[in-house]
Amino acid sequence: MPGANTIVIMGASGDLTKRKLLPALFQLACKHRLPENFRIVGFARSEYSDDAFRELMWDGVRELGELAVRRDDWSAFAKSLSYVQGDLAIPEDCAKLGEALAAIESGTASANRLFYLSIAPQLYGPAIEQIGAAGLAKQNGGWRRVVVEKPFGRDLKSAQALNHTLQRHFDETQVFRIDHYLGKETVQNLLVFRFANTIFEPVWNRNYVDNVQITVAEQVDVGDRAGYYDGSGVVRDMVQNHLIQLLTMVAMEPPSASSEESLRTQKVEVLKAIRRWSPEEAVRHAVRGQYRGYLEGNGVAPGSTTATYAAIRLFVDNWRWHGVPFYLRTGKAMAEKISEVIVQFKAPPLVTFSLGPGAELASNVLALRLQPDEGIHLRFEAKVPDEEFRLQPVDMEFHYDSAFTDQAIPEAYERLLQDALEGKARLFIRNDHNEEAWRIVDPLLEGWEASDDSPLHLYERNSWGPAAADAFLAEDGRQWLKGGTH
Ligand SMILES: NC(=O)c1ccc[n+]([C@@H]2O[C@H](COP(=O)([O-])OP(=O)(O)OC[C@H]3O[C@@H](n4cnc5c(N)ncnc54)[C@H](OP(=O)(O)O)[C@@H]3O)[C@@H](O)[C@H]2O)c1
Repeated sequence: MPGANTIVIMGASGDLTKRKLLPALFQLACKHRLPENFRIVGFARSEYSDDAFRELMWDGVRELGELAVRRDDWSAFAKSLSYVQGDLAIPEDCAKLGEALAAIESGTASANRLFYLSIAPQLYGPAIEQIGAAGLAKQNGGWRRVVVEKPFGRDLKSAQALNHTLQRHFDETQVFRIDHYLGKETVQNLLVFRFANTIFEPVWNRNYVDNVQITVAEQVDVGDRAGYYDGSGVVRDMVQNHLIQLLTMVAMEPPSASSEESLRTQKVEVLKAIRRWSPEEAVRHAVRGQYRGYLEGNGVAPGSTTATYAAIRLFVDNWRWHGVPFYLRTGKAMAEKISEVIVQFKAPPLVTFSLGPGAELASNVLALRLQPDEGIHLRFEAKVPDEEFRLQPVDMEFHYDSAFTDQAIPEAYERLLQDALEGKARLFIRNDHNEEAWRIVDPLLEGWEASDDSPLHLYERNSWGPAAADAFLAEDGRQWLKGGTH
């Protein structure tokens, strides 16, 4: 009998499992990318029979749509699903999980286990302790790995404490911290764009780049996560992980081809080079906002000052980037759902055309659109035909959907789950990365929590955030850019 490969999902009755994890695992199974003899064991407190659990998961999977799901494929896949009811805080329940795993693995040559913590962040520590105490993490005759969802900590101190808990039962090579942005094709394409092409590398530095803008705008508001969100806010929810992640991919040095770890090491080098602010300075280099109506959300504290929008200025103090501002902005209830990286180049040193009164040369803009309408735009000046020297910015465009007509962009979780099963950690967050990212945002959180001088700007739903964020860039003589054409 071949070895057993079991994915244990703690929190299997929850939203993430149903909407993301099971659909991704099903897609991987359809593409024959799961290991031989795989099983998926769900664990949570709610009562489900195996069949009821399969039905619950089917509800999530069928959202993939008709083209992606054939009921026959699902029926075959569903046989690999089973469910253990239990509370991770109760040792007997974890022992029961252990017995279920032993039954699945009985008679197999080796037994690999991937524990996926799809539970509330405050349960990560208790779950790890219980997995350890029940002996489920012992590597006898197979590997053990643990995938930890984001957020990993709510500040540096709590992240370090959680890591100590992990280290009691797993070593770093067994730990896979998720930032699902890294599983996105378009985010990985940032690396390909930079390191599989030569044309931009010579200008990818302080000599040619004026500023970099990273925007992750969400149209949705906090919805039914209001209670959780109110204790967290936009910096913990988005900046510490996704936006800083994107910044490292844009700013990093090329990783060496020979070392698997080099990619992660180079990203940490960027984080270490980011200028550290005191809480007072951090507040001056940021704008916080809250959309109108946030306070009415269920579970939001009266008069809450939790930010749902942030714009932040950072500097990477190394030779490549010294003096180039990196502007990060993200918010809820914004006008559009957009994730993109904009690299604005410096304006030409001299204008050699008579442009006419009031006309200015626009600088080149490279827009790396991560979602939606995934692609890349390069804006440059062109001569308007049949006019003496009137110039107009035009856009050179690459769109994923027209360039790769046969391949759909998979969900981020597919890549991440496959990599975790194969033991490939390069798209997961190393502990030192996570800690450095907290070191960058902790002073801002501290400044906002302590300071009365940092106004909380209200903004309208369906807007681009508070007017103060526009003024923030205008102070530097710049404006926020969007897409290939402004
Ligand atoms: N949902 C998303 O799109 C998303 C995106 C990014 C990251 N995440 C992260 O993923 C994690 C899970 O999120 P979620 O949205 O799926 O949360 P959720 O819907 O609240 O699910 C939490 C799960 O934990 C189980 N659970 C709670 N207490 C338990 C206990 N004592 N013992 C065993 N199971 C327990 C719950 O089931 P029972 O009540 O049946 O026990 C449920 O299955 C969170 O850390 C979140 O930050 C989620």
